[in-house]
Amino acid sequence: MHIPSLIEAKRDGHALSAEQIRFLITAYAQGDMPDYQMSALAMAIFFKGMSGDETAALTEAMLRSGTVLHWPKDAPMRVDKHSTGGIGDKTSLILAPLLACDGLWVPMISGRGLGITGGTLDKLESIPGFRTQLSESEIYKTLPITGCLMVGQTANLCPADKKLYALRDVTGTIQSIPLLTSSIMGKKLAEGLNRLILDVKYGSGAFMQTREQAQALAESMVSVGRALGVRSSVRLSPMDEATGESAGNALEVIECLRCLQGQGPPDLENIVLDLACAVSISSRAELRQMLHDGRAYAKFQHMVTVQGGRVESLERLHKIHRAPVIHEMIADRSGHLRRLDAGTLGRAVLALGAGRAKATDRIDPAVGVDGLRKVGQEIQAGEVLLRIHARSQADAEEAEKAIAQGVDIR
Ligand code: URA
Repeated sequence: MHIPSLIEAKRDGHALSAEQIRFLITAYAQGDMPDYQMSALAMAIFFKGMSGDETAALTEAMLRSGTVLHWPKDAPMRVDKHSTGGIGDKTSLILAPLLACDGLWVPMISGRGLGITGGTLDKLESIPGFRTQLSESEIYKTLPITGCLMVGQTANLCPADKKLYALRDVTGTIQSIPLLTSSIMGKKLAEGLNRLILDVKYGSGAFMQTREQAQALAESMVSVGRALGVRSSVRLSPMDEATGESAGNALEVIECLRCLQGQGPPDLENIVLDLACAVSISSRAELRQMLHDGRAYAKFQHMVTVQGGRVESLERLHKIHRAPVIHEMIADRSGHLRRLDAGTLGRAVLALGAGRAKATDRIDPAVGVDGLRKVGQEIQAGEVLLRIHARSQADAEEAEKAIAQGVDIR
C-alpha cells in the first residue's frame, strides 16, 4: 500500500478500509511511517472525520499494536472508568478501591495531567514511594492481591497510541472525536475489561466545551466499545466548577483520603457513587457504607503498600507537601456564589506549578487550591472563598487575581 495515496484519500474525505487503517498504524508503530506523514494523516482525520467503522478499526489497530492483558477465565469481572478530565477531578483514587471492595477487579491504567486538567499518576506520586510504573508481570502479580491497581501505560500497551498521542499534542490534533476515541478506548480495552464507565465532562474546565460535543464523543466511545466487545456506560456531566473542594496534586490526594473515610465533600462522594453504581451489583447504600466504615480506605492503603508507597505517610501528606505560602482569598461581597469558574481556576492552578507547560516540566505536588466554596452557597463578605497554596507570595497574589476573573457573587 502507498502511504501518500492513503493520506490523500482521507484528505479528500474518503473512508479508509480496516485493512488500510491497520497498515498505517502498524507502519507508524514500527517506524516505517515518519512523523510528518502521520501528522498529515491526523490533520486529515481532524478535518474530515471518520465513520463509526473506521473509528472502530483505528481503535482495534491501536489495541493490536501492543499486548492486551489477559486474565484467567474464572477471574472476577474487570471494570474501569475513564474520565475525559476536569478541574479537581479526583474520582479515580476513590472509585478503584471502592469497586475492589465490592469484589471487582480494577486494572486502572491512567495518565498524567494534560493541559489544565490534572492526572491521576501525578497525584499518586505525591505519596512517598508510590510506584506508578509497574511492569506487565507486576500487574499480573498485583491485581489478584489487591483487586485494584493504578499504573501508567507500559511500553507494550498501545505503543502506537503513545507515539501518536505525543505527536497530536504538538500538531493541534487532540480534539478530534475519532482520534480521542481510538486513543482512550485503545488503552482501556488493552486492560482486558468486561465493563467500562465513561465520565464525559463538558464546560469551561473540560476538553469538550459543549454538551453536544461531549455527547458525540460519548456515543463514539460507546459504539467502539460495543464493536470490540466491552459494554460501556456514560455519565455526562458539566465541568463549570471544580469537583470537590481542591485542585492540585497532594491537595487532591488529601481530599480523597477524607472521602475514602466517609468525610468527603457531598459532590465528590455523589459522583463516585454514581460511577460505582453503573458497574456494581451492590446498591448505592451498600457502596456508601463501604466508604463510611473504613473498608474502601483499608483497600486504598493496601494498594499503596503493594505499589511501594509508605502508608504511614498518608496521614502526614499535608506536612510533607506543605507549600511555603498559604493565602486565603476573601469574598469581597455578600450573596450567593453564582460562579467559581473551573477553566479560570484550572489555569491559575497550572500557573502555580501543579501542571506542565512542556512534557519535561516537573510538577509541584504542594501547590494548588483547597477549601473551595461551592456554587449556590451563600457567602458573607470577609469569609474565605478558597485557600491558595503557592511557592511565593507573588505567585499567590497572581493566582488570586486570575481566579477573581471567574468569581461571581450576587
Ligand atoms: N486521553 C487520552 O488517553 N487520549 C487522548 O487523546 C486524550 C486524553
